[in-house]
Parts: sequence; C-alpha cells; structure tokens
Amino acid sequence: MHENRRSDLEVIVLAAGKGTRMCSQRPKVLHSVCGRSMVERVARAVAGVSTIDPFNKPARIIFVVGYRAEEVEAEIARLKNLDEFQGIELVTVLQSEQNGTGHAVQIAMPQLGSEAQRVMILPGDVPLLCSKTLSLLFTAAPRPLKVMSCEHPEPQGFGRILRNSSGEAYGIVEHRDASEEERQISEINSGIYLVEREFLRRALSSLESNNAQGELYLTDIVSFAVREHLPVGVVLAPSHVELSGANSIAELSALEEIQRKRIIEGHMNAGVTFVSPTQVVVDEGVRIGADSLIGLNSRLLGDTVIGAGVLIEGDGLIVNSTVADGARLLLGCYIEASEIDSGCVLGPYAHLRPGTQLESGVKIGNFVETKKSLLRRGSKVNHLSYIGDAEVGEDANIGAGTITCNYDGVKKSRTIIGAKAFIGSNTSLVAPVEVGQGAIVGAGSVVTKNVPEGALAVTRAEQKNISGWALKRKGK
Ligand code: UD1
Ligand code: MG
Repeated sequence: MHENRRSDLEVIVLAAGKGTRMCSQRPKVLHSVCGRSMVERVARAVAGVSTIDPFNKPARIIFVVGYRAEEVEAEIARLKNLDEFQGIELVTVLQSEQNGTGHAVQIAMPQLGSEAQRVMILPGDVPLLCSKTLSLLFTAAPRPLKVMSCEHPEPQGFGRILRNSSGEAYGIVEHRDASEEERQISEINSGIYLVEREFLRRALSSLESNNAQGELYLTDIVSFAVREHLPVGVVLAPSHVELSGANSIAELSALEEIQRKRIIEGHMNAGVTFVSPTQVVVDEGVRIGADSLIGLNSRLLGDTVIGAGVLIEGDGLIVNSTVADGARLLLGCYIEASEIDSGCVLGPYAHLRPGTQLESGVKIGNFVETKKSLLRRGSKVNHLSYIGDAEVGEDANIGAGTITCNYDGVKKSRTIIGAKAFIGSNTSLVAPVEVGQGAIVGAGSVVTKNVPEGALAVTRAEQKNISGWALKRKGK
C-alpha cells in the first residue's frame, strides 16, 4: 500500500459495559492484566496486526464508551501518546445506555471515515488476544462477514456457533437463549468480527431485541447474512485462552497468571535468572538485561528498565525506574520513579522516592530514605538517613542518622553538599543550606548556616567532664 493512502480498515472496540460481575466501581475494561488495562491490551493487539501484515493497518479505532465514560476516555487519551498508536486515529463515542453489542456498533457507525470499507469489531475485555491470532481474520478467504470462533472447554456463558449438517455456520445463539441441546456445543463466538461496511450497515438495521436480555445482539448479523444468502466465514482460532474474556476478578486473575508466566518465560529466554519464577511479578513492557538475578518476592512494575548483571535480592518493589548494569539491590528495597546508575549498591531496606537520581557507585544503606535528590558519583549514605530535595557531591560521606530538614511547614528548601564533604552522624541540615566541598560537620550538629569549603562546623554544646561525680552520687 502507498504510504500516503489511507487504509480502508477501521476498528470498533466495544467498551461501554459496566462489567457487573467484576463487582467494582472501575469500568471493566480499565481493570489491568500485568500492568496494562484490558482496553490498552486489545488496542495494542489491533495496532500490532500491521506489523504482521502492513496492508492491514487500521486508519482509526473507535472505542464505544458508556459506563464511567470519562475514565475510559482518559485512558484512550493516554494511549494516543504511545508509539504503537502513531498514525492511527483513536476516537471515542458515547453509548449512554447499554442496549447490547448490536446497539453499541450502531452508535459507532457514524464515526467511520468515508474511506472505511472493512470494519473489525471486537470486545474490550479480551486482554490476552494477540495480533497474530487477530491477523487470521485477514488471511481467511474474503467474506462479507467473518467471525472468529474457538473450541472452549468451558463454553458456559458464551454465544455458541450454530452449524448445519454440512458444517456451515447459520447463526450464533447466546447461552441464555440456547436450548439444552445448543448448550452442548463447545464452539464459541469470540465476539471478534471482520465485516464489510456496506453489509454491516444493512445487517445492523435488521436487528431486533426479541431475546432473553431484550437487547440488540450483534451476533444476529450472522443469521442476517444467511437470510441474504451471503457466505459467512468462521475463523477458528487455535487457542481459547486468548479469546477468553474476563468477567470477574477471579477470571481476570487467572488470565493474569497466564500472562505473568509468559512474561517471565520471555525474560528467562533472554538470559535473566529468577530465583523462584512463580513468586515474582513483572509488568508487561519492563526490560531486564541478561545475567541479572531476580530474587523471591520482587515486583518490577510500570515503565521500569533493569540493566544487565543486576542483582535484585528480593522482597522489593521497583516502579517506573531505571537501574543500570551491575547495580546491586539488596533485600527489601522500595524504589519509585528513580534512576540508579551502574554499580550502585542499595539496601537492605532502602526507600527511594520519586526524583532520586544516583550516579555510578553510590551507596545507599539500610533504612535510608531519599526523595528528589541527586547523589553524585561515589557518594555514600549508609545508615538511617533522610535525604530530600538535596544534591550530594562526589565521594561525599553522609553519616548515620543525617536528616535534611527540607520542610519548614510551609515550603520545601534545598540542601547542597559539596564533593568529599563529611557529615558527622546525627546531623540535621536545616534547608536552605550549603556545605562546601571537603567541609566536615561534627556529629550531632544542627546546621542552619552555610559551611564554607574545607571548614569544620560544630554546633553542639561543648562536653564538660566532672571528675568523680558519678561515684559520689552512688555514695561510694
Ligand atoms: C458477547 C457475545 C457472545 C460472545 C461473547 C464473547 C453478543 C450478544 N454476545 O457476549 O456471543 O460469546 O461476547 O466474549 O454480542 N458492550 C457495549 N455496549 C453494550 C453491551 C456490551 O459496549 O450495550 C461491550 C462490553 O463492554 C464488552 C463487550 O461489548 O466489552 C461484550 O459485551 P458483554 O456484555 O461482555 O457480552 P457477552 O455476554 O460476553
Ligand atoms: Mg463478555
């Protein structure tokens, strides 16, 4: 296809339902699997079809929203910024009352562009669907209507594909409307279709709500095609797992487990070792370099990148952070929106809050909390400290129990510590304050004034020794 020619393929994703069985305030399609919402996953599967077959890049994806529409719209707005969706128009359309899947598609039709000739329709709640399976719809023989089906070991609740004695599909019956005999059918409707626009327009206007749920069923377009003597293509997908929707939290969690296993296997195949692969959570899209070792109860979430040869001992959580090659994160580190350069050693039990940036070789020891701070190459904060809104110079040494007093109850202020400075234990640095290069602060000081380069600052009261006083008190 010529680059500038607009594709004739457009997509409708049905995402207006509440998902009653989720028993949740959150719209169903916003529930996530391994860190990505169901609707994001479906949209990515759609966009990914063009990587398999560039002729089938959708020009537009129309999301039908309804229940808590603003929340779903916000998610779609977020997706627009992702690389995967460049060159694809993402739009939403409101279905204020959810009168069924057929009704949802009716509402979406006016949003189709004039070039659209083929329409792919899919539900927003099939999170494990992958582009490869979806692309089967395009490779199957052309038909005005193609439906994706699969054999399902537990077909209860799904629509069933009805076939005549010569194996041709003549309809779909919903579980609730099915006879006992029809309920024995194990071939289910995935809810995924590829339809010619003109056929779809006519089929939609034929829908009626004379069924168990009193709704307009999209599935009835199959029997409409048969009535019109048009051939229906049923494309049998190889795995039911991908086509399984999640209707409850338990179903969602089962899908998540499958996906989590896939993600971790992917990392293992790329040279990452997991001490106990079933007791680790790694979100979709997290990158981990070869020869890294991930310990028990590690959670690597969001937009996180772990370099090569990194040790993550375990019992920790890392979210939206970067950890460079060879860093060592000992047991119990909690790291959020931070950057850790190569060779740093953290923990056990370090807490890096957003905006922490550690240059190479920095050491952050146990019970140290940092926030919005830059620690330059080789600096050390080894024990029990709080470093917030600060800049710590190269090779500076921050003693145990040092606190940057960054908040005066009204505003936050910065602390700047020069290279090779030495801050004695139990020091309070009352910001805004600066300690110059190579300066020393005596233990137990409360520093309220800048300390010049190379100076010694001591603010504690001088020690007095009274000889024999203790013995006298004890009457000896
Ligand atoms: C639907 C199919 C069924 C199929 C199953 C596969 C129909 C009538 N039935 O049933 O044959 O086996 O999917 O998962 O199509 N939605 C709207 N607006 C509505 C109703 C639904 O946007 O008015 C959305 C939902 O948010 C959901 C999708 O459409 O993402 C499917 O709806 P759902 O209620 O889950 O349909 P099923 O009963 O699962
Ligand atoms: Mg469903």
